[in-house]
Amino acid sequence: MPNVTVLDHPLLRHKLTLLRDKTTPTAMFRQVAREISLLMAYEVTRDLPLETITIETPLEDMQADHLTGKKLCIVSILRAGNGILEGMLDLVPSARVGHIGLYRDHATLQPVEYYLKLPTDIADRLVILVDPMLATGNSAIAATARLKNAGVKAIKFVCLLAAPEGIAAFTAAHPDVPVFTGAIDRELDDNGYIRPGLGDAGDRFYGTR
Ligand code: URA
Repeated sequence: MPNVTVLDHPLLRHKLTLLRDKTTPTAMFRQVAREISLLMAYEVTRDLPLETITIETPLEDMQADHLTGKKLCIVSILRAGNGILEGMLDLVPSARVGHIGLYRDHATLQPVEYYLKLPTDIADRLVILVDPMLATGNSAIAATARLKNAGVKAIKFVCLLAAPEGIAAFTAAHPDVPVFTGAIDRELDDNGYIRPGLGDAGDRFYGTR
């Protein structure tokens, strides 16, 4: 699948298993998701451009690597995206952060925006959009459209798990946006859950069920 990367680091795969296990308690789920998110941030920023600058070490001048290009902004799709945000910020603490809140309208089943807060200079930034579960893809598709509408030119979408249906819908709607996921599971069930999945990510992060 062009533009879809399944991250295959053994640590990440092992930690995903911990998240999937229903006996993993809330505190551990949160901690492990944070660790996975840091690993995902590492992979997703692998192609950031570098320039060479001159610095002085305590011993001599040297030509050294320095990040250049667009600054980062991590945008979380509420509420479960916040569980990914923390681990990403552990690795890139200077990144700006945006939030998009979407709920599903019961009549139309379409996502409706109820909250939006983005940095004013977001159009000039590389945006890493995060939501743990790419299920139907509707929220991620709407959030990406909203970011493009705000002038963002460079977006990467990161999730823990994806359903084949969500991948198909998202890549059809936004073929220019690369997707990074920990796994592509078997299917989406009739209730919109990814199978085998990990259950409701928000509930597992926050212990609300
Ligand atoms: N959202 C979740 O939290 N879990 C799923 O399986 C699908 C969507």
